[in-house]
Amino acid sequence: MKKKIVAANWKMNGNLSAVRAFCQGLNTIKTDHEVVFSPPYPYLDKAQQLCQNYRLCAQNASENTAGAYTGEVSMTMLTDFGCQYVILGHSERRTLYQEDDQLIFHKVRAAFDNRLTPILCIGETDKQNQMGETESVLAKQLRRVAQELDHKEKQQLVIAYEPVWAIGTGRTPLLEEIQDIHQKIRYLFCQNDVTISDSVRIVYGGSVNSDNAKAIFKCPDVDGGLVGGASLAIESFEKIIKAL
Ligand code: PGA
Repeated sequence: MKKKIVAANWKMNGNLSAVRAFCQGLNTIKTDHEVVFSPPYPYLDKAQQLCQNYRLCAQNASENTAGAYTGEVSMTMLTDFGCQYVILGHSERRTLYQEDDQLIFHKVRAAFDNRLTPILCIGETDKQNQMGETESVLAKQLRRVAQELDHKEKQQLVIAYEPVWAIGTGRTPLLEEIQDIHQKIRYLFCQNDVTISDSVRIVYGGSVNSDNAKAIFKCPDVDGGLVGGASLAIESFEKIIKAL
């Protein structure tokens, strides 16, 4: 049985005392689902020391193993700090740091090679959505992972559908649209290997909050959520975990 998963993506927010309070709060929450915390890099070690019933995740990492890459962090460094997940291809990385599908695929490859599970973010922009290009954009973003990962890796990968226009805006697609797109993503990703269809986890991200989480998580093809703003306070994140 696949486990549902909810991940807190703090982006470049928070400080040491906020991390400490959040981790202590997380440790008191009882759930059968998988809870993932993704603080900025400098706080991973502290979160790891405090971690009891959640998994640690980084927000990005280099595709390279080691060497002269000033400012970069490798996948192996993340595993040193007890990370099990890494968010890759977030739309902020794609737009602000020009990461393309090619580079993101190399990062996914490096993550698996170093025993990290990627949470691969995909999603269309507002313009692409209005032009009716959502499905073709998602197909393009999924192409290499669907073709080149092996069976086990594909089973393990977590896909986060995050419409770019829904991130941090308070806007979300209609529930029927979320379900429809998740179903399409499942089909696109699994069409060459239908045996993984029931096990691959596809989570929704983009303005998830404690009010809308329950309805979103009820969609049959939604296996959890990737949460930004509403994960910064343990009180609202707890409600989202409970909505799973
Ligand atoms: P949001 O961010 O929940 O603040 O919309 C989600 C994300 O960027 O992962």
